[in-house]
Amino acid sequence: MKQLKVCVIGTGSISDMHLQAFVNHPDVVLYGVYDLVKERAEEKALRYNVTNVYKNLEEVLNDPNIEAVSICTWNNTHAELAIGAIKAGKHVLVEKPLSMNLKEALEVQAAAQKYNRIVQVGFVRRFATNTKVLKEFIDHGKLGDIYYAKASCIRRLGNPGGWFADKKRSGGGPLIDLGVHVIDICWYLMGRPKVKSISGNTYSHLGNRANIQNLSFYKAADYDKDQNNVEDMANALITFANGSSLFVDVSYTLHAKEDEIQVKLFGTKGGAELEPELILISEDNDTIMNIHPQIDHLSFDFSNAFQNEIDSFVSSCLTGEKPIAPVEDGVELMKILTGIYEAAEKKSEITFF
Ligand SMILES: NC(=O)c1ccc[n+]([C@@H]2O[C@H](COP(=O)([O-])OP(=O)(O)OC[C@H]3O[C@@H](n4cnc5c(N)ncnc54)[C@H](O)[C@@H]3O)[C@@H](O)[C@H]2O)c1
Repeated sequence: MKQLKVCVIGTGSISDMHLQAFVNHPDVVLYGVYDLVKERAEEKALRYNVTNVYKNLEEVLNDPNIEAVSICTWNNTHAELAIGAIKAGKHVLVEKPLSMNLKEALEVQAAAQKYNRIVQVGFVRRFATNTKVLKEFIDHGKLGDIYYAKASCIRRLGNPGGWFADKKRSGGGPLIDLGVHVIDICWYLMGRPKVKSISGNTYSHLGNRANIQNLSFYKAADYDKDQNNVEDMANALITFANGSSLFVDVSYTLHAKEDEIQVKLFGTKGGAELEPELILISEDNDTIMNIHPQIDHLSFDFSNAFQNEIDSFVSSCLTGEKPIAPVEDGVELMKILTGIYEAAEKKSEITFF
């Protein structure tokens, strides 16, 4: 079997999931790493036994041995790096969100088409065990037509700071960082309907709550309690051309009792909750049935999902098969996310086509 030579660009926190999954793959040679902070790339190269540490982007793009790159950098660099890699003839796995806005997303898609390269977006929840099990039930008609979905990803104290809190590098706060995951998973399971209209709100009342004592939370490496210009909460109602709708709310900070994640789908024949735990809801013999699938992972299984995501990307690169999370889905998600920010700014519903 041919082996795929891969380079990981950006070797911060999430790169560990990519690097480990590539190491685990028998058909991959982890050929290179590159980060703006060279010591960080060197440390990862040592830990994962990577062949080359590149000094700059040109070295990566000009190395003909590299066949695919995994982009794990700040959001504001995703589109530029992806287009550069595509033009250099490399396949691309790019972390979510695909880009900062719709225009950039369309540019990545155009480059992927022109240069005929695989571009997969890091919608890792699509690769979780509970998602795969639920998708099979949906594909077999268990839920009927899904006409409503509800997604929530609430942190009461969870603005990671650093680049996440700097709109110029992140593109926004919890909506673009957490909302992208839960909106995508609903949209994917609803059958990827076309967006018709969006209304939404963003709020910036609590800031990063850096004043809170005696409660720990995840902080980016360069956390600075005084730096934050992203929203702390967002909600939206997205209506699709087929009449179905999705309601979402997300936060970095909120006066909530506890953190929570919920993904719920409601169809004409049945319903389902994907998070916090997979459960199917049905009606049989005039009785409502809550059905508990007996599987190892009822909730998002982080490392398995990343392994499945990487395995699928490698398979697409080696065989040419279409990715499960293709670039056009990244574009559609950017349309939704930027639509929510626009609707919130205009304080009115926006419509498409
Ligand atoms: N799929 C998921 O569940 C998930 C989880 C966390 C983060 N992410 C995404 O992964 C990306 C990285 O997040 P993170 O938490 O690892 O951040 P991080 O700050 O820990 O790491 C980012 C790294 O990228 C490097 N970098 C930035 N711009 C670069 C450039 N132009 N060239 C080379 N290196 C560059 C930085 O020096 C840093 O080492 C983000 O887009 C984020 O949205 C996805």
